Amino acid sequence: MHPMLNIAVKAARRAGSIIMRASDNLDALTIQHKSLNDLVSEVDRAAEDAIIDILHTAYPDHAILAEETGASGDSEFVWIIDPLDGTTNFLHGFPVYCVSIALSHRGVLSHGVIYDPVRNDLFTASRGRGAFLNDRRLRVSKRERLIDGLIGTGFPFRMFDHADPYVGMMRDFMQKTAGIRRPGAAALDLANVAAGRLDGFWEIGLHPWDMAAGVLMVLEAGGLVGDLEGNTGYLESGRIVAGSPRIFGQMISVIEPHLTPELRTEPPKPASAPA
Ligand code: IPD
Ligand code: CA
Ligand code: CA
Repeated sequence: MHPMLNIAVKAARRAGSIIMRASDNLDALTIQHKSLNDLVSEVDRAAEDAIIDILHTAYPDHAILAEETGASGDSEFVWIIDPLDGTTNFLHGFPVYCVSIALSHRGVLSHGVIYDPVRNDLFTASRGRGAFLNDRRLRVSKRERLIDGLIGTGFPFRMFDHADPYVGMMRDFMQKTAGIRRPGAAALDLANVAAGRLDGFWEIGLHPWDMAAGVLMVLEAGGLVGDLEGNTGYLESGRIVAGSPRIFGQMISVIEPHLTPELRTEPPKPASAPA
């Protein structure tokens, strides 16, 4: 394992143990604090602090883009961190959540870890070296027809601007797939696409830390990732489709009729004229 990936794994496992310890005392802590949100902020922050501490001890000069503490540092190496993906699930004791850590080098995703502390599933990927679940090499599913596919998604839950086109997409996917699942942790959904447990996934309104590690995993498992039109720029737009090569194209065709101008790939800005 690459030493940088190794450090990320150590950080993800440490965060996972903080999360699991807190999950054991969820009820007690809730009664004690009378605010689940405070508790979660506490757990999110404690997990993030532990991750950053481990990464910075190993690589003091690297930059960070983390959900709770934001962006810091200036380096061609940027660690992209979601200390607890699936917060709502965690809050309710619904056991689907994970830690996600990716490393971007000069804007290219080079390593990723997604750790599911409930199942003790460790997903890892390094650019050009494949994706793994524990020691097993991952490949995306071999299913060829969308109608046979199990598709993951995330419902809009904070911003509802795109709720109508989203529901249109969902109505079509209901009829054109074997089933739709909304597990509640986008990073884990992408890892499950890489593992072939889901044939595809789509969501609108994600952040880079929800996607970065999972995107590398899907690509390294032989899948495709794009925005709602199959183009790049998904890490910036937060609109993502991922799947096996066959399923990906069929998903893009289902989504297409529902695209509003705001959901389309932004045209590249014209270079400004010299002053
Ligand atoms: C959320 C989860 C969820 C997705 C949301 C994300 P959080 O992350 O990944 O599945 O639908 O868009 O924001 O807030 O639990 O870290
Ligand atoms: Ca998240
Ligand atoms: Ca989070």
